[in-house]
Amino acid sequence: MIIAPSILSADFSKLQEDIKTISEAEWIHVDVMDGHFVPNISIGPAVVKALRPHTKQIFDTHLMISDPRKYFDAFIDAGSDHITFHVEVDDDPDALIDYLHEKGVKAGISLKPATPLSAIEPYLHKLDVVLVMSVEPGFGGQKFMPDMVDKMQQLSTLKKNQGYQYHIVVDGGINNETAKICKDAGVDVLVAGSYIFKQSDRNKAIEGLRL
Ligand code: DX5
Ligand code: ZN
Repeated sequence: MIIAPSILSADFSKLQEDIKTISEAEWIHVDVMDGHFVPNISIGPAVVKALRPHTKQIFDTHLMISDPRKYFDAFIDAGSDHITFHVEVDDDPDALIDYLHEKGVKAGISLKPATPLSAIEPYLHKLDVVLVMSVEPGFGGQKFMPDMVDKMQQLSTLKKNQGYQYHIVVDGGINNETAKICKDAGVDVLVAGSYIFKQSDRNKAIEGLRL
């Protein structure tokens, strides 16, 4: 199990220090919000660029923005390793995935809780990341939606049966209890923000989530 702490729940006044406290995590999840696709505004490429020299961890960038293709280059140049955009915002996800691959970054698609899996099925064969939102995107600290487990299971079955390569990522409301449910559903990566950052020993919390 890969753990991806979301720095949305870190202390923005000391991000460099905070990322040292999550050194056991393989990925660092960067939640980008534009105040349009989601009601909240968070951080942008300047923050990725500022943190890049301070860690070799993978920057897993989750774009909750209305016009992702406009900002791909800025995040790639800043040092994002993975870029995940929402299927709800673009009518040609195929072209976006190809563009990201041409630029040498991993490509991901995310879907809001109400978006059915059928919306992303045509792209599954070429995706590196499928990010299942288990809360409404926009804010950390919300409650896990158990109805999303079915999507995770279906993605896991499709992956096994078709030989697909994507990581199944779950994002929202992950704690030591919901982590187990997701693990049983075949998830590969857990994004966790508030649960990890509220602990005094964050690396211990990260290891605990793997169990
Ligand atoms: C929600 C974000 C999540 C969020 C997770 O819009 O995509 O990454 O920060 O936070 P927790 O783990 O607190 O639900
Ligand atoms: Zn996220």
